[in-house]
Amino acid sequence: MNTTDRTDTPGANQTAVDANDPNHVLIFDTTLRDGEQSPGATMTLQEKLDIAAILDQMGVDIIEAGFPIASEGDFEAVSEIARMAERSVICGLARAAKGDIDRAWDAVRHAKKPRIHTFIGTSPLHRQHQLAMDRDQVLRKIEDTVSHARALCDNVQWSPMDATRTERDYLIETVKVAIAAGATTINIPDTVGYTAPRESAQIIRDLLENVPGLDKCVIATHCHNDLGMATANSLAAVEAGARQIECTINGLGERAGNTALEEVVMALRVRRDIMPYHTGLDTTKIMSASRMVATASGFPVQFNKAIVGKNAFAHESGIHQDGVLKNAETFEIMKPEDVGLSASALVMGKHSGRAAFRAKLKDLGIDLGDNAFQEAFVRFKALADSKKDVYDEDIVALIDDERTSA
Ligand code: KIV
Ligand code: ZN
Repeated sequence: MNTTDRTDTPGANQTAVDANDPNHVLIFDTTLRDGEQSPGATMTLQEKLDIAAILDQMGVDIIEAGFPIASEGDFEAVSEIARMAERSVICGLARAAKGDIDRAWDAVRHAKKPRIHTFIGTSPLHRQHQLAMDRDQVLRKIEDTVSHARALCDNVQWSPMDATRTERDYLIETVKVAIAAGATTINIPDTVGYTAPRESAQIIRDLLENVPGLDKCVIATHCHNDLGMATANSLAAVEAGARQIECTINGLGERAGNTALEEVVMALRVRRDIMPYHTGLDTTKIMSASRMVATASGFPVQFNKAIVGKNAFAHESGIHQDGVLKNAETFEIMKPEDVGLSASALVMGKHSGRAAFRAKLKDLGIDLGDNAFQEAFVRFKALADSKKDVYDEDIVALIDDERTSA
């Protein structure tokens, strides 16, 4: 194809990660775009502004604020977020159509750091059934639309939708065309959550080996969670050379969702020893962002969800409670404060032991002698056997009863 190589034009590398810090991983949050595409997750303008504000404060590198051509509401939300953001790059999504790209540009152009993200399906299934285009027609469309976006904005991200089900030699060709047309970030989406960690890494390595100039762009990974492997696939891509992870708060997203921001960010933080990469995020804002997104989207967070679930820092079994009371590291690999919680929770239930019961009484300001403590503990166990949750009020009532009957 006859394309002009633009990788060396001014601005082409402005999104490349710092050459002095090759292990820095950019976080691209798409809660407000891919997340909102979950059926039933529509958010109001104010909710979107609040979420964008906390992402910006948290240090998220790029916020994909919406899909401006999709509706007036989306356009307005992206434009407002673009005007408001202090630190983050603000990105608008566009299909491979000039009208979409112009609309995305109109929405993000007021941002301090705007980005246009354009995509087209590249897999045989998408070419045949969605686009009714052959390989060459898709290549020409990529050249046309990426160069159009690049004429408007120095920061252009391009995605081959369904990349993980695209023939590898053809995927390589598409990326070459996108780079020559001026793309500065190449994103590799696992659109249907089909890949596995080894393959996710191999795709990135194959691209790096076969696409000249790709090392001057940022390579992004965008995983869906249909097989529950989105986090593992994203991290595998990073180990192979990707330096931007696309993700959402609480893993919100179509079907089984996207890679969860809190999971990749905390995994990189906790396992720095084996994955020497880092993000610049203020992780103490994670819980607030999670609650905000759960409320705005109406998608509650499952109790045992990694990092942000109600039980992620809660302990009920006696052995675990005893361990945590002696040294939290016995059963915790992260500090609750690091994700914005004040403390872990010792949940009182039938598995709780004497150590936790004693600590709970102390918390409640109840001081019992040895015999009274033993009797109270027996009664607490009987109560816990008959009840799912034992609340502080139950324990206070149990002690009061014991005192009146004594
Ligand atoms: O999953 C996907 O392929 C997408 C693209 C629009 C990047 O969300
Ligand atoms: Zn997606």
